[in-house]
Amino acid sequence: MILAMAFLILLLAFAASAESPPQSLALPGCLDTCGNLTNIPYPYGIGPGCFLAPWYEIDCQQTRGIPIPVLKNLSVVVSDIWLPDRPNYSPGLIKVRQPIWYSRDNCTTTQQNDAPVDLGASNGIFNYSSSQNYFVAGGGSHSLALLTSTNYPVTTSVCQYSCRNSYYSPWCVNGTTCCFTSIPYGLARFNLEFKTVNGKATATGNAECNYAFLVERAWLKTFDFNILTTYVPVVLEWGVTDYDNELLSKNRRNDVNSAVCASVGEITYCYCNNGYRGNYYLPQGCQDINECEENPNLNCRGKCVNRPGSYDCVDNKIITMIGMFTAVGAVVLLLLCWWLYKFMKRRRKAKLKKKFFKRNGGLLLQQRLSSIEDNHMEKGKLFTSTELDMATDNFNENRILGRGGQGTVYKGMLIDGTIIAVKKSKVVDAGQVEQFVNEVVILSEINHRNVVKLLGLCLESEVPLLVYEFIPNGTLYQYLHDPDREFPILWETRLRIANEVAGALSYLHSAAAIPIYHRDIKSSNILLDERYRAKVADFGASRSVSIDQTHLTTMVQGTFGYLDPEYYQTSQFTNKSDAYSFGVVLVELLTGEKPISQLRAEEDRNLASYFITSLEENHLFNILDKEVLDHGKKEDIIVVSNLAKRCLNQNGRYRPTMKEVTTELERVRSLRNPMVVQQNYEEINCVRTGSIPTLGAIPTFMQPEAEVELTSMEEDQSLLMPR
Ligand SMILES: *[C@@H]1O[C@H](CO)[C@@H](O)[C@H](O)[C@H]1NC(C)=O
Ligand SMILES: *[C@@H]1O[C@H](CO)[C@@H](O)[C@H](O)[C@H]1NC(C)=O
Ligand SMILES: *[C@@H]1O[C@H](CO)[C@@H](O)[C@H](O)[C@H]1NC(C)=O
Ligand SMILES: *[C@@H]1O[C@H](CO)[C@@H](O)[C@H](O)[C@H]1NC(C)=O
Ligand SMILES: *[C@@H]1O[C@H](CO)[C@@H](O)[C@H](O)[C@H]1NC(C)=O
Repeated sequence: MILAMAFLILLLAFAASAESPPQSLALPGCLDTCGNLTNIPYPYGIGPGCFLAPWYEIDCQQTRGIPIPVLKNLSVVVSDIWLPDRPNYSPGLIKVRQPIWYSRDNCTTTQQNDAPVDLGASNGIFNYSSSQNYFVAGGGSHSLALLTSTNYPVTTSVCQYSCRNSYYSPWCVNGTTCCFTSIPYGLARFNLEFKTVNGKATATGNAECNYAFLVERAWLKTFDFNILTTYVPVVLEWGVTDYDNELLSKNRRNDVNSAVCASVGEITYCYCNNGYRGNYYLPQGCQDINECEENPNLNCRGKCVNRPGSYDCVDNKIITMIGMFTAVGAVVLLLLCWWLYKFMKRRRKAKLKKKFFKRNGGLLLQQRLSSIEDNHMEKGKLFTSTELDMATDNFNENRILGRGGQGTVYKGMLIDGTIIAVKKSKVVDAGQVEQFVNEVVILSEINHRNVVKLLGLCLESEVPLLVYEFIPNGTLYQYLHDPDREFPILWETRLRIANEVAGALSYLHSAAAIPIYHRDIKSSNILLDERYRAKVADFGASRSVSIDQTHLTTMVQGTFGYLDPEYYQTSQFTNKSDAYSFGVVLVELLTGEKPISQLRAEEDRNLASYFITSLEENHLFNILDKEVLDHGKKEDIIVVSNLAKRCLNQNGRYRPTMKEVTTELERVRSLRNPMVVQQNYEEINCVRTGSIPTLGAIPTFMQPEAEVELTSMEEDQSLLMPR
């Protein structure tokens, strides 16, 4: 800022200093003054290199200490030089000193009679100006003076005078005491004669003294004919040869409008055009006049704007309008750019979404879904990625409910207030796409109270997203094995959960259009809703029989501790494999023990075998949960334990079907309470309001949130499972 101001001040100072002295018309570095002759313009100059051609050399002679400028080639004293001048359209002018010519007859006082200056050798560079000079003659009575040009064109000026009364009249009165007349144009060289009126040459010895001269017209008015002078001023016109003029303009980068040139014969003279000034013959040529700066009082409405050769008065309103239009234009342009950017971005996004849809198995899914007649997932349940971004607060870390083998689950809320769980699959490869499509297809076919409901899905995002109903109370695994749980889980509740899971599996195996095997039944895949009703979840590994005709898979899937040993050996998954896994869950419910526990003796680590051994060795009641023992009827416990034992049979053939399991469990429950089957929801309410104050007393941060495959289990699995 300070620097800029300093610069401005400096600039102003420079401009002021440059403005004050009149610009020299001489070549830079050359003297432009000699005595009374000041401001000598180029092409004239003093000293070598300061004039354009020898014709224009000024010799500054010192005569008794007085400097006298002499035009060297013509040997004449110079008193003034003018550049070609626009107002008069005149060529350059130079005023020089000329002698007066006297007849030799009787002019004793002034014998001097120099020859007239011969301009002929300059070939037109110099002429006597016909407009600025007169031819003057006087002297004897009845005499004539004849001026004959000897250059082309040859013309004659005749001057007749009669000075009868007096030789030296103080006034030259045309035709009486003297005469003056104009001279021909282009006069450069001439002869002078005096004659008598009748045409005879004045004889030698004539007593009369005659005189004649060329003189500047303006000077003549002040001429006192009583004083005989030797010299009079005469004005010459000058120009520059075409050749020299071309040399001058050759290396100039100048505005073509800055000068006007006139050419006569081979001589050219140029002057600065209106709005320009300076010396055309200098290297920089004519310079533009900044009228606005030099003439602050210009009658200009609005703002004065300098232009080459002229200036414009621009209305302030117009300036404001131009400014406004420019501003509006810029804004419009900016908006356009922004819009274009947005448009391109949106297009790219849409393209990406399409690509994702394809990669995420959208096409496969469409095909598979369309092949199913009655799927319960309506068309409207395809969510957009924007919708889910909004619902999950852009998949905020704080919304994570759990991380599983197949992805991360986020809690979210749709615009209509529905609370949802969004399962974001892990980075998809081709194999996982199939698994993912499986889950969607299977869930779309299922509509069961105890199976987690798939609300919809989104295939536009980088990874496929599944949208489920939100199940608030976490997994059965968390519920059973929570070390901080304050209230015991009632026998009736355990029985009901077992019944519900069995019912769901039975439905999957038989009631659905195509038999579906869950393939990964475990307590952590059973979710509990707000009333602690079971909801079977995570169908990632499931397959319907029609799809997997052979029942043979190359890879054994499942979770260690729940895995059917027969399937493990044969790689053949059957409906009885799900029954085995369910058996383990049932034992978990009975004993409250984890399926695999490092706390138990080595041979008892596996809960299934631990349970069977205990049963066979007749100390079943030692391993049962305290709550089961306290509130369960002994015969019921035995029936359920036996049911679990049958489920856990090494040989699948001897295991009951899930239908049989469901019937058995329902029977046990209805024996205790005939209303139970119809009222299984009210039952929970009774429990809540009964002896146990409230389940909600579990500290909220401890509350299991949702479907979670425990990472530790996953790790166990990856360590123990053959792949
Ligand atoms: C210069 O000009 C002054 C005044 O006009 C005059 O008196 C003087 O004689 C001039 N000198 C020459 C050398 O012409
Ligand atoms: C004047 O110039 C012409 C042409 O350049 C030259 O011939 C002549 O000798 C010059 N005269 C004087 C007195 O310098
Ligand atoms: C010149 O004229 C004067 C008269 O004004 C005369 O006295 C004189 O003798 C003349 N001289 C000659 C040489 O004729
Ligand atoms: C002066 O008189 C002559 C005739 O003697 C004439 O040709 C000339 O034009 C006159 N000059 C003026 C300026 O009147
Ligand atoms: C002088 O006269 C000649 C012949 O008339 C002409 O060609 C030339 O251009 C004139 N010079 C000037 C400077 O006017």
